[in-house]
Amino acid sequence: MVCLGNICRSPMAHGLLQHKVEQQKLGWQIDSAGTGDWHAGELPDKRAMANMKGHGIDISYQRARQIQNIDLDEYDVVYVMDISNLANVQRLAKNPDQLQKITLIMNEVPDAELVEVPDPYFGIGNEGFEQVYKMLDKVTDRIIEKYK
Ligand code: 4NP
Repeated sequence: MVCLGNICRSPMAHGLLQHKVEQQKLGWQIDSAGTGDWHAGELPDKRAMANMKGHGIDISYQRARQIQNIDLDEYDVVYVMDISNLANVQRLAKNPDQLQKITLIMNEVPDAELVEVPDPYFGIGNEGFEQVYKMLDKVTDRIIEKYK
């Protein structure tokens, strides 16, 4: 799961998918990263942790990191949150195998209202985070159904 800072959207996506994978005992390896390195080593944003906690999911075990080329070998599918993330991660890819793993996450919901998961970082309060939660809750259900 990849976004810009790896402190808001991708940690929420990571936490949601991890939670569902554990519930269903699927044994998949899930991780998240940012295209930027400004927040490397940090906890998720307090608002992201609070929103997720409100939905019964703890993401305080996560620490931000920047995506590296090796992630495109290590993982079978690389989901990005928006079109800017898509361009940045595609630029990191070194071969067609790596390139074909990179997908805009909302592509998994064909009837989705929005094709990008909006960045909630500069918003005020919980509203943007709740919108992100709802989108990611739906799409992670689809991902589970698709690959399980
Ligand atoms: P994220 O949100 O990409 O969903 O983690 C952001 C976090 C930090 C910044 C931008 C977006 N930032 O500019 O520091």
